[in-house]
Amino acid sequence: MLSDAAVQRIQEIVKEYPNTKSALVPALYVAQRDAGGWLPREAMVEVAEELDLPESHVYSVATFYSMFYLKPIGENVIQVCTTSPCGLRGANEIVDCFKKRLGVGLNETTADGKFTLMEVECLAACNVAPMAQINEDYYVNITEERVDEIVTMLGRGEKPPYAEFAQNLKGAHPIAFTDAELGIDVSGIKPADPVVKKEKPAEAAPTEAK
Ligand code: FES
Repeated sequence: MLSDAAVQRIQEIVKEYPNTKSALVPALYVAQRDAGGWLPREAMVEVAEELDLPESHVYSVATFYSMFYLKPIGENVIQVCTTSPCGLRGANEIVDCFKKRLGVGLNETTADGKFTLMEVECLAACNVAPMAQINEDYYVNITEERVDEIVTMLGRGEKPPYAEFAQNLKGAHPIAFTDAELGIDVSGIKPADPVVKKEKPAEAAPTEAK
């Protein structure tokens, strides 16, 4: 079910990692994007085959992380962090605002398929709480007014301004993007020398007790 382009990208990603297990998260990102924003079972099976990993391992990783979705989701996924630092700065009220504005509860999708609302654990932006990840971008210091603006703009197919520090990354998860997609010029960068595995010195044979 994965497109040739997605399979090719996964093969490229694998070359950047010491083993296929460590390439699994970016590979799942590629598969998810290619499969229309979520991970059907067939896509996970193909990733498992491509990386030569047990399907159970791929499934366990896909179900562990909140950025992978196992059922169809809305065009825009709003994930509000409600861990303590964000909670102390009003994250639960922000969740309520999104619920009211969208007319859905947590883990629900609006009838027009435009939005899915979720709450997630800390996204490592506690200093700019309350915050949410929307699609692949971070939105920080969210207020009630901001909720309205975000939903209105996304509903019109526009992109609301998001956190500047994330803009430098052109997405919160650059790992699955090509250098060209990230706008990084790597032409002058010398590739790192290959890692040479040091042989472990042979252990001396134990001497016989006299
Ligand atoms: S607690 Fe919300 S980003 Fe850390």
